[in-house]
Amino acid sequence: MIIAIDGPAASGKGTLARLLAAHFGLPHLDTGLLYRATACALLDEGRPLDDVAAAVAAARGLALRHFDDTRLRTREMGEAASLVAAMPDVRAALIDLQRGFASRPEGAVLDGRDIGTVICPDAPVKIFVTASAETRARRRALELAARGENADYAGILADVRRRDERDSARSFAPLQAAQDAFMLDTTDLDIEQAFRAALEAVERKLALARKLG
Ligand code: DC
Repeated sequence: MIIAIDGPAASGKGTLARLLAAHFGLPHLDTGLLYRATACALLDEGRPLDDVAAAVAAARGLALRHFDDTRLRTREMGEAASLVAAMPDVRAALIDLQRGFASRPEGAVLDGRDIGTVICPDAPVKIFVTASAETRARRRALELAARGENADYAGILADVRRRDERDSARSFAPLQAAQDAFMLDTTDLDIEQAFRAALEAVERKLALARKLG
């Protein structure tokens, strides 16, 4: 079973993806990390973030097991990732890796921006997770503060809005809900409530598939 989860920055999609993967015993790929790692490799090489050829080479050279999660999850890397993610050639260079992960025999949970629309358009379960920009900024500020990072709410809210705009407006694989996605607004939900709602959506889909199959 493939579960495709998409949504904007800090919507809670990563947490939901992890919880659903653990619940169903499936491997999980946070595809945002691929774009973050690509941007990180460019910065480490001292290249500008608009160097398409270097970004494509960095994307092709990614090795999942070498990811330094803590460094990749910083605010700076989220912003840099959003810039390299707007390059069609970088996105193309990362398609096989993502589809390879999704084609494991047991299935997989992938989360990102274009999983249900581009990477796994045939996924039987698609969830699009949203929350208001203010709620997402508050959550991100708490998360960063817990890690001892700079967590000024106004700056984070501006980051969230800028990234929403860039991720949604790009012409290639923009942030967009698939037509058959279950829409889950987590603005007024805590993690437990959001997980229950997501799980119910998955189970409804599975029951329907069993009935039809
Ligand atoms: O989910 P995240 O915040 O870790 O993602 C970082 C950036 O990577 C995000 O601003 C847009 C980009 N991204 C993307 O374009 N497509 C994906 N499938 C995942 C992330």
